[in-house]
Amino acid sequence: MKKILVINGPNLNLLGEREPAVYGDNSLEKINAKISDSAKSLGFETDFFQSNSEGALIDRLHEARLDCAGVILNAGAYTHYSYAIRDAISAIKIPVIEVHLSNVDSREEFRKTSVIAPVCKGSISGFGEYSYLLALDALKFLL
Ligand code: DQA
Repeated sequence: MKKILVINGPNLNLLGEREPAVYGDNSLEKINAKISDSAKSLGFETDFFQSNSEGALIDRLHEARLDCAGVILNAGAYTHYSYAIRDAISAIKIPVIEVHLSNVDSREEFRKTSVIAPVCKGSISGFGEYSYLLALDALKFLL
């Protein structure tokens, strides 16, 4: 069974508590459980990783190239300035889908720039936790 890795970056461990009007009421654990169920129905197995550290996110992306068919990545604020995460995505051959809970284009100016978007297969933003489920559908289509 193909494995999909779902990576969440900084501050996303606080989902449910953190700015619920922007990011919703559900915890990351609850969201991951929904992703896992949906992935099963699409014939995927899932692995989940969250870190607040840029280096740990990069290490996990590198590892994913060995045993994952694709990655769903919410890089949090690193999206907007981490050339190191961008290079890690470029370095691996598996498709990476960029996701955001909020509609980053409708918010502050700095959120309108994604330095990772050009090296991701595609980007999904603004659908709350459903963004991750749309990304799963996209991977089903791609793989
Ligand atoms: C986010 C959007 C980012 O701008 C922000 O820094 C986050 C969450 C989102 O999922 O909407 O941490 O990636």
